Amino acid sequence: MVSVLESRWPFPSIRKAPAAMTDTLIQMPTQRRVLPVGENGSLWEARPSCGIFEFRGMRLRLAVEDPAEVLFPTDCGLSLIAALNGGDAPDLKGVNALDIGAGSGLYSLALLAAGAERVTALDINPASAAQTAANVVSNGLDATRLTCVTSPLEEYTPDERFDLVITNPPHLPYDPSYARDDGLETALVARRGGRAVYDSVVERMDTLLAPGGTLLMAHSSLADIPRTITELTARAYESDTLAIFEMDIPLLAYTEHKDAMLSLLKERRAAGRADFDGSRFTVHALMFRRPLDATER
Ligand SMILES: C[S@@+](CC[C@H](N)C(=O)[O-])C[C@H]1O[C@@H](n2cnc3c(N)ncnc32)[C@H](O)[C@@H]1O
Repeated sequence: MVSVLESRWPFPSIRKAPAAMTDTLIQMPTQRRVLPVGENGSLWEARPSCGIFEFRGMRLRLAVEDPAEVLFPTDCGLSLIAALNGGDAPDLKGVNALDIGAGSGLYSLALLAAGAERVTALDINPASAAQTAANVVSNGLDATRLTCVTSPLEEYTPDERFDLVITNPPHLPYDPSYARDDGLETALVARRGGRAVYDSVVERMDTLLAPGGTLLMAHSSLADIPRTITELTARAYESDTLAIFEMDIPLLAYTEHKDAMLSLLKERRAAGRADFDGSRFTVHALMFRRPLDATER
């Protein structure tokens, strides 16, 4: 089990990106919000290691040193970024935010660029911290406002509550037959049919989010969206769907095990716990607000 390890600026382990990296302009999920088959929808046809994305009028460059160790953002993660570019998205200026499952730092970067006061980037993968910090520094953002924590969410007990929590949990069902031994293992699959990290997010939210605070999620239809909404609204959270994006199920990292994974997903669908059509699924950009008068748990 990974122990809780916190690192703050200056980050000693930042390494320079290899010189051979070339920038790819990251295509945002489209306005019509139905992503064409094969156009990045399969976890990138050729997985890039760096690219530029736009967030609220700013161009941000994101790189991963080793795409097998830290997930380069997929359309699933980018969907929430695209949704937060829309009109109904919350103001991010001055917030104290927690990025759960920070990965390459996609959301941490966007939050800092949009004026977040502080961002804590939490990930179980020890390679995430250095990559997130490197991306923040290389974009000229103030790294003193970033804290990276290496820990499973389940063991993370901060001594503060956050104004905003943002997350894009792993959503594919885990099976020992296709377990990986690289950093993508925790990025893409999760136990309990892909629900494990969603369940932890829901379970931990009252201890992480301040009353009146906002939870933003990229929620896959493969991982039982109604369950998350039901459980949070039962605790008086207000729920809002900012946008829905349709795309391919990202199976590129599991090409050899595509049939096994699809058959698990079909079982989940038959049980009413997953929603997809052929190889297409949806990602819902969800926003929840914790009631202001919430009692502490
Ligand atoms: C789908 S990736 C999202 C990465 C990034 N936020 C993005 O959208 O590109 C999920 C991330 O959650 C992390 N993760 C998985 N299980 C976790 C857990 N129990 N606690 C903390 N982080 C976890 C993974 O290591 C991975 O970086």
